[in-house]
Amino acid sequence: MTDDLFTLRAETEAALREAADVRAWDAVRVGVLGKSGTLTALLKDLGRTPAEQRRERGAALNRLKDELAAAIEARRAALEEAALEARLAAERIDVTLPPRPAPAGLIHPVSRTMEEMAAIFGAMGFAVAEGPDVESDWHNFGALNIPAHHPARADHDTFYLPPAGPGAAPPVLRTHTSPVQVRSMLRQPPPLRIVTMGRTYRADHDATHSPMFHQLEGLAIGRDITLGHLKGCLIDFLRSFFGIASLPVRFRASYFPFTEPSMEVDIGWNRRTGELGGGGDWLEILGSGMVHPKVLANCGIDPAEWQGFAFGMGVERVTMLKHGMADLRPFYDSDIRWLRHYGSSPLAPAMLHEGV
Ligand code: PHE
Repeated sequence: MTDDLFTLRAETEAALREAADVRAWDAVRVGVLGKSGTLTALLKDLGRTPAEQRRERGAALNRLKDELAAAIEARRAALEEAALEARLAAERIDVTLPPRPAPAGLIHPVSRTMEEMAAIFGAMGFAVAEGPDVESDWHNFGALNIPAHHPARADHDTFYLPPAGPGAAPPVLRTHTSPVQVRSMLRQPPPLRIVTMGRTYRADHDATHSPMFHQLEGLAIGRDITLGHLKGCLIDFLRSFFGIASLPVRFRASYFPFTEPSMEVDIGWNRRTGELGGGGDWLEILGSGMVHPKVLANCGIDPAEWQGFAFGMGVERVTMLKHGMADLRPFYDSDIRWLRHYGSSPLAPAMLHEGV
């Protein structure tokens, strides 16, 4: 091998060592073996070599070409390997690190109570029904035996909405969930067993009243449903919901335009400690009664053939009693600290007191 070839080999090897990435490496490769590369040029010049040296020079050039091609290829493999190592190092994860805490939402106490109510009444064969928040005067009042100028209207502090036209009765934000009873009876022939839970509205605001609150309503219609069924159903519900097998329950004669007879229901508690159960005092908790024959007739059901019971209660009220909460207002404040305290895990099953 002549000096110029030694030099070319040394220079190429040095350039390859210096080539730190594939681009630099490729520049070296093209500079030596490319169309106008140094070695290619030497091979082209072979013709001008004196005849007696040509064989030897040709053999030396070809050996060098093989040698450099192998060196170039080896460098490429090394660079690729190094690149892979660097990537693996950069993408390394420590699988032993504890996971970051994922923010988990909590179920609002009102939602949780409604889930529990649906579960308890569902087990008794009640289906869940729904209705709109904006109701016609007829669905909210008229069909329920509360005609215009009926004194019961004054109790409801109704939000009236603009009427559809002159002379039309203004729609209302439903003041109770009872219009869902009306809609259920109109939609589906008896027998019928439904509960409904949802928002209700009354123009009233203090520590225990909110202009928007939630009610649970129930309705059972059959050929021979009696007051006994009403009592059994509500006693079972209340004892199950509050988780107190011996919870005293009292039915007290009352008045609602849409039920006859009507009864308010009280549960036992201790007025001094606020504890529910056999404390010797009574706390009013819900309204109920046998559906008024006029209401059945208004909803297309023959009161000579069918009868049934209905009940309604405030969702926030029973939630506050169950969990010992004093103030209604934080329910709607969206204060995350309150929700963390009173909210429940979406993964925990609704608290049911089976066998109570
Ligand atoms: N709708 C009544 C209220 O809001 C509750 C109720 C429902 C009473 C069904 C009796 C029967 O006060």
